[in-house]
Parts: sequence; structure tokens; C-alpha cells
Amino acid sequence: MKIAIASDHAGFEQKEALKSYLVELGHEVEDFGPSSDDRVDYPDFAKLVAEAVSQEKAERGVLVCGTGIGMAIAANKVSGVRAVNIVSPDFAVLSRQHNNANVLTLSGRFVELETNKEIIQAFLTTDFEGGRHTGRVQKIMDLEH
Ligand code: RB5
Repeated sequence: MKIAIASDHAGFEQKEALKSYLVELGHEVEDFGPSSDDRVDYPDFAKLVAEAVSQEKAERGVLVCGTGIGMAIAANKVSGVRAVNIVSPDFAVLSRQHNNANVLTLSGRFVELETNKEIIQAFLTTDFEGGRHTGRVQKIMDLEH
């Protein structure tokens, strides 16, 4: 799967580790930065990944900041994006099954790397269930217009 990834300074260390993990899993990863842990503004990086997903240049996005919260708020401003801030593998599964989430935002400060790996694995291997969830997700997308 083609994955777009980025972080801010607070998520940089985990972003680097998670990028390697995604490559190990066999995914094609495009890293939208940053390239160091110098202080940056997370919306700049959320925008790059969200636009890659919105424009179908990537199938999924992964964003890491201190909490994942700011990244989710910013990414959800981009049309076609359903970004979710996830701290447990179970919620990653549900965000795919019920919400057809396409961007995952993670906490680099409050969630251990191993847990974030489990979250990513769940997020990338779980399909949208469709059915009764299809109309609900469509209603979310209709809010964009
Ligand atoms: C940066 O200090 C921090 O605010 C950012 O990484 C993120 O947690 C915002 O939601």
C-alpha cells in the first residue's frame, strides 16, 4: 500500500521508526518530513499528508505529533480526509470498520512506539465494513459541501 507519513518535532523520533516499520511490512512510504526534530508547526505537515490522500497520491496517511490531536484537527480540514487520532489498536480497527478512516494520527509523546506499531498494523489491515456504515460515512462527507 502507498502510505504518506509526516510529523512535527514532537513526533519526529517515532515517525522515523514507524517509517522503517512500514517499509519492513512491505509498504511504499513517502515521507513528507520534517527531516530533523527542529521545531515546526504541525498543520504544515498535516496539510501535505492530507492533500496526498485527498488527491489519491497515497492510499493512507500517518501523522505523528505530541498527542496526534492537532494533526487530526488540521488533516480533517482537507476535503476527502477522515483523520482519526488513535491510542489503542481496538479503536484503529473500529475506525476502519465503521468510519472508513484514511488518515491515522498518533501520539509520539504519550503512546509507546510498540503500541503505535500495533495501531498501524490494525489500521492498515482492517477493511471498511460497508453496509449500514456506508450511508453514515456518506453523511460525514456531505458535511463538506
Ligand atoms: C507541540 O508542542 C504539540 O503541541 C504538538 O506536537 C501536538 O501535540 C499538537 O496537537
